[in-house]
Amino acid sequence: MQKSGYILALDLGTTGNRAFVFNADGKIVGQAYQELTQYYPQPGWLEHDSLEIWQATCWVMQTAIKNAQIAPDEIIALGLTVQRETCLIWDKTTGQPLHRAIVWQDRRTAPLCHHLQEQGYAQEISDRTGLIVDAYFSATKLSWLLEHFPGVDLKNILAGTIDTWVLWNLTGGKVHATDHSNASRTMLMNLASCEWDETLLTLFKIPRHILPQIQPSLGTFGVTDASLLGVEIPITAILGDQQAALFGHGCHSPGLMKCTYGTGSFLVAHTGSQIVRSQHQLLSTLAWTQVNASGTLDVGYALEGSIFTSGACIKWLRDRVDLITTAAETEVLANRVTDNGGVYFVPAFSGLGAPHWDMSARGAFFGITAMVQREHLVRAVLEALAYQVQEVVQAILASNTISIERLSVDGGACENNFLMQFQADVLGIPVERPKMREMTVQGIAFAAGLAAGFWDNDQLLVQQRRIERVFLPGVGRNHALENFTTWQKAVERAKHWAD
Ligand code: G3P
Repeated sequence: MQKSGYILALDLGTTGNRAFVFNADGKIVGQAYQELTQYYPQPGWLEHDSLEIWQATCWVMQTAIKNAQIAPDEIIALGLTVQRETCLIWDKTTGQPLHRAIVWQDRRTAPLCHHLQEQGYAQEISDRTGLIVDAYFSATKLSWLLEHFPGVDLKNILAGTIDTWVLWNLTGGKVHATDHSNASRTMLMNLASCEWDETLLTLFKIPRHILPQIQPSLGTFGVTDASLLGVEIPITAILGDQQAALFGHGCHSPGLMKCTYGTGSFLVAHTGSQIVRSQHQLLSTLAWTQVNASGTLDVGYALEGSIFTSGACIKWLRDRVDLITTAAETEVLANRVTDNGGVYFVPAFSGLGAPHWDMSARGAFFGITAMVQREHLVRAVLEALAYQVQEVVQAILASNTISIERLSVDGGACENNFLMQFQADVLGIPVERPKMREMTVQGIAFAAGLAAGFWDNDQLLVQQRRIERVFLPGVGRNHALENFTTWQKAVERAKHWAD
């Protein structure tokens, strides 16, 4: 007899908010999606309306449940995964944000980061947090927000990343908390102690009382307010979206790695219970935490290569420069030409993350001549997405901690067969695409279901990870590698543009 009950998974990402209902067999039985408005108040800035995120969360939850044709009281547990680093401050008496949320891609705090580097804080910050000083992380964004509301009564203010904001709203304002994986991205959490770091709070002028309590990623975060769905649903897991994808891929032990092609591309490798530090510009971060049977905290660490702009380029081609009408068209166009026509693209819309960490780099096309067609431009964009991953894989290999025999992929852009084949060509290793592409939601659903005792082990998760297609390095390898060197030259030219 089939076990009854369902798990509700929320995936609140950079481009949109999604809810999925999973049954006991780990199958998706209902889902809903709503795109999120992107606000670009100035070049290099990006904001989200956190009230829109909350309203969309309610809508996708209700719609996914309706589409699944189940009753809310059949839901055993809820898991929440979010875009990381994006943060906001709000008034706890009114529930109103003081400002739009500052998104992870936003570069407004680059001057503050440069100042910290000049003052010699980079090494200490890295030692404490595992991170590289960059506008990407929440700390300088929160400093900026607090500085812009100097007269505000801090007694009424709460701060948090998107998980914290949505958890606070889900629980009717009762719970102000985050999990270790999201906290590890703020640049305020000490990676070794897994607590807020007093030295960093002082450095960034963040009062401790406005920050959420940090809790184990798999555990009890409270229940949804009954006014939302008519019942109280336990919230049993919270994870950053890249950590959720790592969980979904079943990368639970040292050396296992995944690559998600979302708004950006994120390569994350589990490193076990030890913090592994890279000499090659990768981040040391938290995978997830859980209290074990003897009551102590199990901490899993990870090594990450964060690439800021990847799927966002496809969206840009479609929505801003009108070169394509659908994302799928990029594959058709790229295949229509035999090469990139000498065109190279640098996707530095928000500066460059791993392994360059240049906040002032900006996007560029190089090598355009009069013979260049739309097809070449589109192909150059896809090639650039693969080259960025190649750079991070090289950094991981140079770190000598992990051997990479194949790349497990997920995320929207991995639908693109041209990109996946080109990726295998340039990497020289097989690229494995799973049947189930929704690794982030699968990861958070399984984390929530396991934490709630709905599933006893991850056997189901293992079964769900069937491979749909393996892309093997092919005849294009030599050419792809030659062009990689030219592309790296283009990257160097795009650096420091906004200085
Ligand atoms: O660190 C940023 C990352 O969490 C964003 O993920 O899926 O929204 O591109 P995504």
